[in-house]
Amino acid sequence: MTLSSAPLESSVWWAHTSAANERLLRLLDGGELARHSRFRLQADRDRYLLGRSMARLVLAERAGCAPEKVTFELRCASCEEKSRAGAGGGDDAPHGKPVPTGAAGGWEISVSHSGEWVALALARGVALGVDVERVSDTRDLAGLAGYTLADTEHEVWSALPEADRAGAFFGYWARKEALLKATGLGLSGGLRRVGVTPPHTRARLLFWEGGADPGAAWLSDLDRGPEYRSALAVLTDRRVELTVHPPEAAPALLRR
Ligand SMILES: CC(C)(COP(=O)(O)OP(=O)(O)OC[C@H]1O[C@@H](n2cnc3c(N)ncnc32)[C@H](O)[C@@H]1OP(=O)(O)O)[C@@H](O)C(=O)NCCC(=O)NCCS
Ligand SMILES: [Zn+2]
Repeated sequence: MTLSSAPLESSVWWAHTSAANERLLRLLDGGELARHSRFRLQADRDRYLLGRSMARLVLAERAGCAPEKVTFELRCASCEEKSRAGAGGGDDAPHGKPVPTGAAGGWEISVSHSGEWVALALARGVALGVDVERVSDTRDLAGLAGYTLADTEHEVWSALPEADRAGAFFGYWARKEALLKATGLGLSGGLRRVGVTPPHTRARLLFWEGGADPGAAWLSDLDRGPEYRSALAVLTDRRVELTVHPPEAAPALLRR
């Protein structure tokens, strides 16, 4: 086996929002505490707190350091692209993907939260993106599908039985957004410009029409029950060996 065909290890941790508690606030830095207190809803505060706490605890363990030695730089690939093109950007308050720096430099993470679930994904040396979406009764599902699905995706989607459409829409969305989050572009990368396979078939990137084309990507759905859709994208051409830590394991992680 050549070195490049060795599998790449990636891990995902899930937490239920009920695992949030005040003790975790000690894990946030000053900027994070300020952001935490700006959320109006307790549910938003809890999701944010869990994402950052899980990230610090897991990275501290991997890097063999104390959680407070783990720092993040927020990087928005969309704004970086705009400022490279001389079209402004980069003047806003720091925002974007948290990239581990300090003692945990070299690791990559992605955080997602929706409804009662928080996901943290981690790998070493390759960018990755995780997304979780609650399947909701969106009033204008057809309108939303019209401007988020690529033409080929929309054709498949609109031929599905009515009862399957909401689940399939969020299945598409999670796959596409996981890819966009992996590149650090976020939604500004354009959901219609990223093409993926239909949700009832194996997850795969089909085309990338926008900037920051990742070339190769490994894509997989993650199971979070019938009310949610979730996906993980890892920007590598290698096989990925994924370890998923279920929500039952989160309380022990968060007690560390
Ligand atoms: C940021 C974004 C990817 C989040 O997607 P979402 O489905 O609403 O939320 P998720 O829970 O899946 O993801 C949120 C997490 O994504 C991460 N994130 C933020 N920006 C990101 C980016 N550009 N790329 C990858 N990840 C990003 C953060 O960790 C955030 O969690 P946190 O705030 O608790 O740390 C999406 O809302 C987006 O791209 N928004 C664009 C916002 C915008 O227009 N900004 C203006 C300047 S570009
Ligand atoms: Zn930006």
